[in-house]
Amino acid sequence: MAEKRVAAIGWPIEHSLSPAMHNAAFKAVGLSDWSYDKFAVPPDILGLSLREMRDHGFVGCNVTVPHKEEALKWTRADELSQRVGAVNTIDFRTNRGTNTDVQGFMDDLRANDVVVADQPVIVLGAGGAARAAVYGLAQAGAHLIVVNRTPERAERLLADLFVKGQVLSAAEGVQTGAKIIINCTSVGMQPKVTESPWPDNVAMPEKPFVYDMVYRPARTRLIEQAEQAGGRAVNGLGMLARQGALAFTLWTGVDAPLDVMLNTLREALGMTT
Ligand code: ATR
Repeated sequence: MAEKRVAAIGWPIEHSLSPAMHNAAFKAVGLSDWSYDKFAVPPDILGLSLREMRDHGFVGCNVTVPHKEEALKWTRADELSQRVGAVNTIDFRTNRGTNTDVQGFMDDLRANDVVVADQPVIVLGAGGAARAAVYGLAQAGAHLIVVNRTPERAERLLADLFVKGQVLSAAEGVQTGAKIIINCTSVGMQPKVTESPWPDNVAMPEKPFVYDMVYRPARTRLIEQAEQAGGRAVNGLGMLARQGALAFTLWTGVDAPLDVMLNTLREALGMTT
């Protein structure tokens, strides 16, 4: 049987946990002819690289930073990825591009028993990750409050996605009564682990729920701040596993072993819980 190959492409890509996560998943469900690689692809040869992979019989690939927006141009991007403005999963058999980040994120919120319908939700950031979160949250009926270092970018994000929401400061966001905070910036990520996207001079809402898309380190300064405010917080590992699980099923047609994927990620990051 011909080997079925998939891969992650990014620039840089060496720290990607996707190969370990997917290869463990293939093994767990007995897909012994499947393998997952990673390739460092510079931005100027994205189109060429995608064509090469397809011509060499790759089944699909995951696309990560900085290629997610550019990948729209090189695939038959579905409506979801067009709306979000980013492709993270490609199926070369159809050349279809989609985005599993949105559902991966929303599935993980649900798995953590977070209800967002009719709730004010503070989104920190206005880049690609924030777009996926805002899109999913708006669909689920949340009232969006976007807080960003560059407010104009947040205004543009809401306008692009046709989402009614407010662009506020963190302090103004707290005054709305919002208890749910989603960090979609990279602030606090290794190596700058002492930083937080939440300003020091603004008290967090009481007993907040904080979702930090950062997962390196597993326990960020933002997560500590949330717990100090009597709240609950999770990192972005669940979202990483769930977006991967959705891509896995799309390529293989087989239910993804989510627990295996999560455990592989936890192990790779040296997490004990
Ligand atoms: P991604 O696609 O991963 O979301 P991005 O498009 O570069 O990455 O967006 C990064 C987000 O993190 C932006 O909201 C950015 O704020 P600006 O729009 O003002 O650039 C935010 N961000 C990055 N570094 C930051 C910092 N040191 N302080 C505050 N916000 C920061």
